Amino acid sequence: MERIQAAIQKAKEQRTGMGISPVRDPANGTAAHGAQIPRGQAGTAWGEIGTFEPDAEHLARHRIVTFADTDPAHNHFDMLRTKILRTMQRNDWKTIGITSPTSGCGKTTISLNLAFSLSHQPNLRTVLVDLDLRRPVVGKHLGITETHSVASVLQGTHTVQENFLRYGDNLAVGTNAQSIRASADLLMDARTAGGVRAIKDAFRPDILIYDLPPMLVSDDAMAFLPHLDCVLLVAGAEKSRLDEIDKCEQDLAGQVNVLGVVLNMCRYASEEYGYY
Ligand SMILES: Nc1ncnc2c1ncn2[C@@H]1O[C@H](COP(=O)(O)OP(=O)(O)OP(=O)(O)O)[C@@H](O)[C@H]1O
Ligand SMILES: [Mg+2]
Repeated sequence: MERIQAAIQKAKEQRTGMGISPVRDPANGTAAHGAQIPRGQAGTAWGEIGTFEPDAEHLARHRIVTFADTDPAHNHFDMLRTKILRTMQRNDWKTIGITSPTSGCGKTTISLNLAFSLSHQPNLRTVLVDLDLRRPVVGKHLGITETHSVASVLQGTHTVQENFLRYGDNLAVGTNAQSIRASADLLMDARTAGGVRAIKDAFRPDILIYDLPPMLVSDDAMAFLPHLDCVLLVAGAEKSRLDEIDKCEQDLAGQVNVLGVVLNMCRYASEEYGYY
């Protein structure tokens, strides 16, 4: 834990030193909330990355329901999206991490559904990054076959253009084909702040979603907190214990803004996704 605290402090200093601020710079080519953002804007990577067209059935098999919007469950994600968006816009937050106490609570499913739900809003630029470096599956869920490495972008050895793909005009996705065992070391490495900055500069996203690893399994999520404006905690009904949720909330408090807790996989509730 001391190692993490030291890393968090160091990253905070780097963040200040590098002038990384959650406040949007209108002079930088981005517009006020709700304003039309021009596509293919010079100086951004949106026009320079490859594209992908997901297969609707493949996505549906992975419970990504906000792509086709034929499953009524997409309404729950659209409501969640709107609540998250309102809070983030009100606070001028751009970067959200999605984590959970333990594995299998639905982080990746929720990250992907939020990303596609946001992509339906033409005025918003959304970027999704797979930061579960030990067990990256976002590419697989999307049916992406390219051997991309967003980890190499964070390390500064490869470019955003080489490792992100775009769906439509306004959703970019960074995936990892290989798992990385020393992931906490990578995330605490001083170079990661530069990689995070490179992604933001390249896309100037309105919302940047990081699909994080679970908190109680490794140091990774905690190590990355200094790069986030806020966090959404996903709990699995009949999976996450109250004491686990409490512990995660306590660990997060003071380090980052906690947007709320989503209760996923509720069998008996009238709504599948609770949010408080
Ligand atoms: N609301 C839901 N109802 C039923 N199944 C779900 C729901 N949400 C997710 N799942 C399923 O639960 C499994 C775990 O989901 P997911 O991979 O999104 O969790 P995760 O938190 O990202 O896991 P990990 O910690 O391993 O990365 C998947 O098979 C997914 O399809
Ligand atoms: Mg996952």
